[in-house]
Amino acid sequence: MNLPNLKEARKRTNNDIVIKDNEYELTDNQKAIGLNKKYYIKTYGCQMNEHDSENIKAILNEMNFTETDKLEDADLIILNTCAIRENAHNKVFGLLGRIKHLKQTKDVLVGFGGCMAQEEVIVDEIRHKYKWIDFVFGTHNIFDLPNIIEKTYINQKQEIEVFSWEGEVIENLPVKRDNKYKAWVNIMYGCDKFCTYCIVPYTRGKQRSRLPKYIIEEVKDLIKDGYQEVTLLGQNVNAYGKDLNINYTMANLLEDVAKTGIKRIRFVTSHPWDFNDDMIDTISKYENIMPYIHLPIQSGSSKILKLMGRRYTKEEYLTLFNKLKEKIPNVSITTDIIVGFPGETDKDFQDTLDVVAACKYDSAFTFIFSPRIGTPASKMVDNVSLEEKEERLQRLNQLVNKYSKENNDKYLNKVVPVLLEDYSSKKKDCLKGYTDTMKLVNVKADKSYLGKIVNVKITSVKTWSMDGEII
Ligand code: 5AD
Ligand code: SF4
Repeated sequence: MNLPNLKEARKRTNNDIVIKDNEYELTDNQKAIGLNKKYYIKTYGCQMNEHDSENIKAILNEMNFTETDKLEDADLIILNTCAIRENAHNKVFGLLGRIKHLKQTKDVLVGFGGCMAQEEVIVDEIRHKYKWIDFVFGTHNIFDLPNIIEKTYINQKQEIEVFSWEGEVIENLPVKRDNKYKAWVNIMYGCDKFCTYCIVPYTRGKQRSRLPKYIIEEVKDLIKDGYQEVTLLGQNVNAYGKDLNINYTMANLLEDVAKTGIKRIRFVTSHPWDFNDDMIDTISKYENIMPYIHLPIQSGSSKILKLMGRRYTKEEYLTLFNKLKEKIPNVSITTDIIVGFPGETDKDFQDTLDVVAACKYDSAFTFIFSPRIGTPASKMVDNVSLEEKEERLQRLNQLVNKYSKENNDKYLNKVVPVLLEDYSSKKKDCLKGYTDTMKLVNVKADKSYLGKIVNVKITSVKTWSMDGEII
């Protein structure tokens, strides 16, 4: 049994990252485990988790399981969990209640993975109160799933495989992508920033960049498979390469990915601290790097930013923001904001509203601060009531939505490029897709346009989406 340990997870050593390109392996026996069996997977959280699930699905397919979208039909249920806020926890425990009932009526194997599996308190709770969960696997143990599942079937006792910290990158995992036209490509794992509220550096471990050659190879293969768009993924993509000691930065990587000729490149998430001029120049130089940047501010108060350990002031953020707007034509910028951080006064919150008004973001994800066990912020004195926090969130959302709509209004009657990626979930006879600036557009078009980047005239505009016609 390998258990997680938050103290261990906090350690950062200078040991080199070990790249392993033959770690994942399947035995003949493991390939037969899933024959005539179905799996159901539920994914919570960010794109990183979604992409991990694409790896998990491919592994289960290689073990000959088939996917079902009905929980009740499954022989194997996998939960890929998220730990970022308390409500993510609650959703998972809600579903566990349903699964427990199901397990009383049929033979089903239940696996608990992802970020919550990296938390000591959660694994303790599973060991003592959820003994019926068959196996637990951490974010670093996905490659080992065939062994874990095999052992669980043989031993019939709870298997727990969660490393606290691993300085490894596994290169040969299979992937079953959910989308045929746009793909996620991990460029790095983990995070070393340790913002004081954030659990990610503990659950995802030390920053490990993938070697450029593997990333470029993956993008070239995606082009061959007909993909039009890649999103380069990492918790803090601007710090890409710093751990490799090969004098190669995010600006270099963006340039090399742009030169592959893939039609559209995006990247998330950016931390303002590492966003340098080279990167900005590269983004403005290449037409296939999309004019869209997600740049979390978290708070508009320099005092709160300091308590959050964000390493920039409100003024420094605004300088960067203005430079991006000036140097990248037509750029759209979105952000993340936390309200009700411990010690946030009315004045601090007003600073946040002021910055939102100055930046007029295209959109923003807004959250109430949620204390995560083991992080420094969870021990800070929090004297803002929940009522007050909710009221602040509401006021903030009103302002954010006002600017989203205003920004969208500028698109009315304009012609913009849209990659049509799927059927519209809202509108009949329509496809949906995103502009270069990441605006969602419903377009009247038949399925022959799927996977194509087309010029669309915007005919109507709402706060969160637009409608348009192909011209
Ligand atoms: N409480 C509230 N929001 C959080 N985020 C991260 N940790 C917390 C927390 N403890 C938000 C940040 C981050 C986004 C992914 O989630 O805004 O950018
Ligand atoms: Fe968390 Fe992002 Fe800060 Fe890393 S940079 S600690 S992932 S908020």
